[in-house]
Parts: sequence; C-alpha cells; structure tokens
Amino acid sequence: MMERRAAAWCCALLLGLALTARWPAATARFVVEKNSLRVTSPAALRGVYECAIGNFGMPQYGGTMHGVVVYPKANRKACKQFDDFDLSFKPKPGGLPVFLLVDRGDCYFTTKGWNAQNSGAAAVLVADDRVEPLITMDTPESSGTEHIENITIPSALISKRSGDDLRKALENGDMVNVLLDWRESLPHPDERVEYEFWTNSNDECGAKCDMQMNFVRSFRAIAQVLEKRGYTQFTPHYITWYCPEAFVLSKQCKSQCINHGRYCAPDPEQDFSTGYDGKDVVLQNLIQICVFKVANESRKPWMWWDYVHDFAVRCPMKEKKYNRECANGVIKSLRLELEKINKCVGDPDADKENPVLKAEQDAQIGRGSRGDVTILPTLVVNNRQYRGKLEKSSVLKAVCSGFEETTEPDVCLREDIETNECLENNGGCWLHKAGNVTACKDTFRGRVCECPIVNGVKFAGDGYTNCEDIDECKENLFCQCSNCACENTWGSYECSCVVATTCYTSEIHDTCISKVSTASSVGWGFLWVIFFGLALAGAGAYAVYKYRLRRFARLWLSTCPWRAKKQQINSVLSTTQISEIAKPCME
Ligand SMILES: *[C@@H]1O[C@H](CO)[C@@H](O)[C@H](O)[C@H]1NC(C)=O
Ligand SMILES: *[C@@H]1O[C@H](CO)[C@@H](O)[C@H](O)[C@H]1NC(C)=O
Ligand SMILES: *[C@@H]1O[C@H](CO)[C@@H](O)[C@H](O)[C@H]1NC(C)=O
Repeated sequence: MMERRAAAWCCALLLGLALTARWPAATARFVVEKNSLRVTSPAALRGVYECAIGNFGMPQYGGTMHGVVVYPKANRKACKQFDDFDLSFKPKPGGLPVFLLVDRGDCYFTTKGWNAQNSGAAAVLVADDRVEPLITMDTPESSGTEHIENITIPSALISKRSGDDLRKALENGDMVNVLLDWRESLPHPDERVEYEFWTNSNDECGAKCDMQMNFVRSFRAIAQVLEKRGYTQFTPHYITWYCPEAFVLSKQCKSQCINHGRYCAPDPEQDFSTGYDGKDVVLQNLIQICVFKVANESRKPWMWWDYVHDFAVRCPMKEKKYNRECANGVIKSLRLELEKINKCVGDPDADKENPVLKAEQDAQIGRGSRGDVTILPTLVVNNRQYRGKLEKSSVLKAVCSGFEETTEPDVCLREDIETNECLENNGGCWLHKAGNVTACKDTFRGRVCECPIVNGVKFAGDGYTNCEDIDECKENLFCQCSNCACENTWGSYECSCVVATTCYTSEIHDTCISKVSTASSVGWGFLWVIFFGLALAGAGAYAVYKYRLRRFARLWLSTCPWRAKKQQINSVLSTTQISEIAKPCME
C-alpha cells in the first residue's frame, strides 16, 4: 500500500489539489510481485519463503540462482561501503555466490543494493524490520542516485520472520544454502506473450524519464521484430488523473487538464509558472495512444515505437518543440494517417469525454492478478507486473519467460537479431529525390536518421524531413578567393579560376594566384625564413616536424594575400603539398 499512497499523494501535490483517486477504495490495491526463495539447508529451515523482487537490479526471469547466505559482521544495514570495513563477499574460485543478508532501514534500498554489489555479492536479501506484508522496494526520486542504473544484482525483500530465522541459523554456525527461483514468476500459458508498457511522454522528469527513453531506444528493434512475427501483442498505456468537480474551473486544473478537467497530468517541471503544463503532456499522451490505435488498425502496431522514439528525438521540451506541430511532422515522416489520428484525438477543449482516455483510466484499475498501475513506468507481462530494472536484457528475459516452454522465439535464445530497418520506407528518414542518398542508418540499437556525408561533404538538416546539400559556395568556407569561380554541385562543389590569373586550385585549398603580387617584400622574406627553418626542422623529430608544418601552413595562409579560406589546415600536409601551395606566393 505504501507505494500507492505515495504515488497518489505525489500527484495531488503536483496538481496542487486534493486529488482523490477515482476508484473505490475497496478495489484499489497494489500487488507485490513475489517469487520464491527456497532454503535447501540446514534441514530445520528447509522450505520455500516468500520474497518481493525490487524495482531495480536485474532479476533473472525464467532462471534460478544458487548461493550461500552471509550476514556481514559489520555494516549490517549496508548503508556504507563494505570496503571501509575490509569486508569482501567475492566467492573464492569454486565457491558459491554470496547472497548478502542485510537489515532494512537508515538508507535507500538502492544504496544497500549498490554497496552489496560492490562488495562482490551476487544478490542482496533485505530483511524487513517490522512485521507487515511484503512491499516492493522502489527507487528514490531524488538526485545523487546515478548508481541505480548500474545495479545489476537482483534484490529481494524478505519478511522479518524469515530474516530472523536465517540470522539465527547463521549464528549457530550453520551453512545456509538458498535458491532464488524466477521460473514461475510470470505465467507462461501459450505461445504468445501479451505485454503492456505504462509510460508517459514527459521528457523532463529526470532519471525516470531518461530511463524510459533509453529503454524505448534499446528495446525498439526487438519489440518490433517480436510483434511483426506474431510472438507478442504489445499495448502502450498512459496514466491520467481527473480533476475533482469542485476544482474544474480553478487555474491549476485548467493548466493541467484537457476536456474540462477530465484528464490531467502533473506539471512536467513541477512549476506552474514556467515551461510546459500538464495539459500539454496529456495531449501528447493522447496523440501517442491514437498513433498506436491507428497503426494497430492498419496492422502495424509496432509503428508506435518509431513514433515515440522519433518524437522524443525531434520534439524535446528543452528545445521548445514539444507541440502538436512537431508531432504532426513526425506522423507525416512515418507515413501514418494524420487525419485518422486527429479524429481520434478530438477536441481537447470540448466539455465531453474522450473515449480513448476514458478507456485508459478504466485500464488503470487492476484486474485479476494485476494490481492498479500507479508507478510509472510500469511493464506488465502476461497480466503480471514486471519488477526489476527497465532495461533491454532483463525485460527481454521477462518477456521470454512468458512463452510456453519450447515456443520461445529465436531471439530468446540468441540475443542479437538482424534486421535492416532502413529497407522499409527508408526507416522514415530523409531520402534524396534521386533515391540514392539517405539519412537512414541501420545500427545495433535500431535505425537512426542522421544527415549523411557524401564525398566528404556533410548534409545539413534534421535527418527526417529536410536535408540540404550544403551550398559550399554560399557557406563562405570554400573557394572564396577573389578570382575563384565557385559552382555548387550536388553533394560537392567545383572551384575554378577566372581567366587572366595564374591559376592554382588544389584539393586542400582553393586558391587562385594572380601574377601581380601585392605582398610586401618583408612579408616574402619572412616566409622564406620560415620555409627554410621548417625544411631544417624536417630533419628533427617527427612530431615537431608535423607540428611546424601545420603551423607553417597556417601562417602561410594568413599571410598570402590570396589565401584560401577553406579551413582544413588541421590535416597534416605533406612537404610536397606545402611547397606546391607555397610556390606561387614566392615567385
Ligand atoms: C555506471 O556505468 C557506466 C558505464 O559502465 C559508467 O560510465 C558510470 O561511471 C557508472 N556510474 C557509477 C555511478 O558508477
Ligand atoms: C490491435 O489489433 C488487434 C488485431 O487487429 C486487436 O485484437 C487488438 O485488440 C487491437 N488492440 C487495441 C488496443 O486496439
Ligand atoms: C545520385 O544520383 C545523382 C543523379 O542521378 C548523381 O548525380 C549522384 O552522383 C549520385 N550520388 C551518389 C552518391 O551516388
């Protein structure tokens, strides 16, 4: 119950209102995902104990883990590093992995997990310090918790009584052997896994938002393959709250809600006076649900992953692009049906229900073995709440453990899957009219839209809708000498010299050298000295040589009246190139 209360309280605070949950108290509940901790010895303790998997670390869904329980001599709450106490729980070669038993209290669960991991433990068991039903250990919201991302060992909370029993056995000098079993954590009735991701389009909520985005980025390719091949049925969901009737006309509800207080979200920056409002977030959430609905109707539900990913990349709040116009751009690039999506979104200012959001609010209430969804993000696999870190490999393990045995897709047995996401519709990225240059790049983490480099020249643009060939002639970078004739070509440029000048153009520097020198003799003498100085230095250390050459070239460029502006002087020039370039200037 703690998490439920905390989540509701936090939302009420953010809305600045006494928001009451919509659901009757009797049906509202938070289901703690439990799995079993089996003690195999000593005989007196043999049996199965309940434990609750934490919302961090990596549970081994579908697997088991054997180990011995160790209760540390000092630092028993694991709030400090075990190094400070000269304690290490790394098993010696051939030794069993250590399940570190620690006491609840005094610091975050995640701090205990982190310290246990750094001490070499393979898992951490936190013994409750009060008699109560098990709770889910969650991650703190505050900053200074960057290490949470790096916790990989699984964590579980055990009851006070189980903890007492284990401690007593250890005091008696017994060796306590345990087996943590995740094989039955999720139901696995058939050859298709249904899973839901409860998420949020808000991208400015700190660590949790970053974690959601990283998950979408890394899991997208796998999710899409599983869906296309019919192994999974995925549905995204979004939580909204409603504004109590008495407050519908208040400033807070007007800025946090759409459809007359019916659907609200907390202010993204938790500051009513600046940036985006809750209503912007609800609207974007609604668009994302509608994208899913419309894509699902045309039997391409996996397009949701592309939309959510691209929207986060192209329309972030911090660039002030988190708006409908930008969303429409993404929808168009992905060739989704904008009209249908707009129809599904409806009029956010209308004083009436939106059937899509209404259905989402109803889905928030738990059913069967699943509790109410109150924590974001939440993943539900086969109608059970997933616990553990929101991270590609652990989520994939959980999804895979939801298939009836032997019906798992290949990807469950072999993690890397090969797809070229640029083959279809060019991955939604920019494609040149000629059809031979694209911004789409297939990578291990899914496709990215990135402006290409053609013949050493980079295209400019966002990689999605517009990508301009840089007009080198206008960019004031290339071929700018007074006698140069610059002509932009597609993907490159051509530089030639107008007649009546001694022509010099080079790959590295576009220069046209006039026969009439205007440089003072002092300047030339100066250059000669440097040139010969450099020639001598050439006999010296190679590093010094290279450095001076570069310096010389720079100096030459800044002294020569017909200097080229092309700024690639940082590349190391060969002696021949230097003297060739320098020759016309020295005549
Ligand atoms: C977490 O892991 C990443 C990548 O291995 C590393 O760069 C980072 O410093 C780690 N953070 C902490 C707090 O150890
Ligand atoms: C998506 O489409 C499938 C098959 O057409 C359907 O069974 C499912 O209910 C749809 N999901 C949603 C959330 O509309
Ligand atoms: C692409 O096609 C255009 C026109 O057919 C051609 O001029 C250009 O050189 C091609 N570019 C590449 C990189 O193949």
